[in-house]
Amino acid sequence: MTSVHSFWLAGRPAEGDSTFDVTSPWDGRPVGTVSVPTDAQVEEAVAAAYAMREEFAATPAHLRAAALDHVAKRLAERTEEMAQLISAENGKPIKWARSEVGRAVSVFRFASEEARRFNSGDAQRLDTDAGGRGRLALTRRFPKGVVLGITPFNFPLNQGAHKVAPAIAAGVPIILKPAPNTPLSGLVLGEVLAETDLPRGSWSILPVDNDRMPALVQDERLPVISFTGSERVGYAIMDSVPRKHCTLELGGNGAAVVLGDYASDEELDWAATRIATFSNYQGGQSCISVQRVIADAAIYDRLLPRIVAAVEAQVTGDPSDAATDVGPLVSEGAAVRVASWVDEAVASGATLHTGGTREGASYAPTVLTSVPTDTTLACEEVFGPVLTVTKVDGEAEAFAAVNDSKYGLHAGVFTRNLQVAFRAHRALEVGGVIIGDVPSYRADQMPYGGAKQSGVGREGLKSAMEDYTYERVLVLTDLEL
Ligand code: SIN
Repeated sequence: MTSVHSFWLAGRPAEGDSTFDVTSPWDGRPVGTVSVPTDAQVEEAVAAAYAMREEFAATPAHLRAAALDHVAKRLAERTEEMAQLISAENGKPIKWARSEVGRAVSVFRFASEEARRFNSGDAQRLDTDAGGRGRLALTRRFPKGVVLGITPFNFPLNQGAHKVAPAIAAGVPIILKPAPNTPLSGLVLGEVLAETDLPRGSWSILPVDNDRMPALVQDERLPVISFTGSERVGYAIMDSVPRKHCTLELGGNGAAVVLGDYASDEELDWAATRIATFSNYQGGQSCISVQRVIADAAIYDRLLPRIVAAVEAQVTGDPSDAATDVGPLVSEGAAVRVASWVDEAVASGATLHTGGTREGASYAPTVLTSVPTDTTLACEEVFGPVLTVTKVDGEAEAFAAVNDSKYGLHAGVFTRNLQVAFRAHRALEVGGVIIGDVPSYRADQMPYGGAKQSGVGREGLKSAMEDYTYERVLVLTDLEL
């Protein structure tokens, strides 16, 4: 028997009239039982958030910043407990779970810093035109309204942090809905939020079933939806509420380009190690994990064996073991899907260099070459520990290959050449270009989001705060001028 986790209704713990169980994808053991809010309790949370939205917007910055600092401090103190929980409910290796908690601590700290400097206002003189004589415009930002944040399973704590922290920093109430298979990390985040003086109603964490979400999505008191998850669900949400403000952080099939100038043994070793690590971290279940390697013909033959060796060196197994690099996927169904895509690619002529096997929810780190461009693996986001390597001839062909995708989240370019870096920045149709490293690099304070089908809008503290608010101009008139 595991204890029942309350949910958070307007900042207070509450229990509904039903529960569901969370189990470990590694060994199926029970990890926790979650209480599910009733429709009446969901209504109470939404009504509370809506009713206090003006009060929250007027809260002094120092109070919101202090609350955010408190959350950062307490998460840091509870790192090991949080990491164990993330690892248990998600199957994430403990070392990556610890890294996730560290990132969430930073997210709340960055948010407290942004809360202190956000919205000081921009002044603009208007007498640059005769009609504007004696006038000054002061632009400040105001909340669009209560945010509905919807998070996926892959970073159960940090994705929640990226929704909640900027909302608090900007003085915007938020209703957070965690992923059904990994709700516990978000609910424990609620314990820390509940220790603060944040006003009642400013935040709720509601583990509502997915099939009850359309009603919340349609609720006019929640005009902002910040969704992270699949392309299919994200666009279905946006299409169902075309007049709402939707931020969508969706899929990607991250490309790592290795160009011909990146050719020393040290450089190729570094590129291969980074690629192997970040195609497999969290079982490849990150929107910016490396799915595609695009390698110049000049270094291809020396790079491929290094990648295969580095992938084979990944330690697979029990996520609670500190030595484990790659644990299970989130469910056996996810691993079965990944296997079917790899099998399809191989049946269509792809060459399998390593991996390609499944045991329960675990899928072996896998490398393929010669993957036909019309296979599911080549076109879609695999969200598993699978890497394809393609040989190209020169920079232009490499950049064209990166752009030959419906997705555009991040791309990594291994080059030493600054001019190539500028060209990559101009040419690549993605939300972030990472020079000298894999696409998986994300600093939590920088703008994060996609181009093309990878989404709409940006996260990263300042970007999310801007996303949750809109500009309102105040024109001041000096009649004596
Ligand atoms: C994502 O999967 O989109 C998040 C990646 C990250 O935060 O590192």
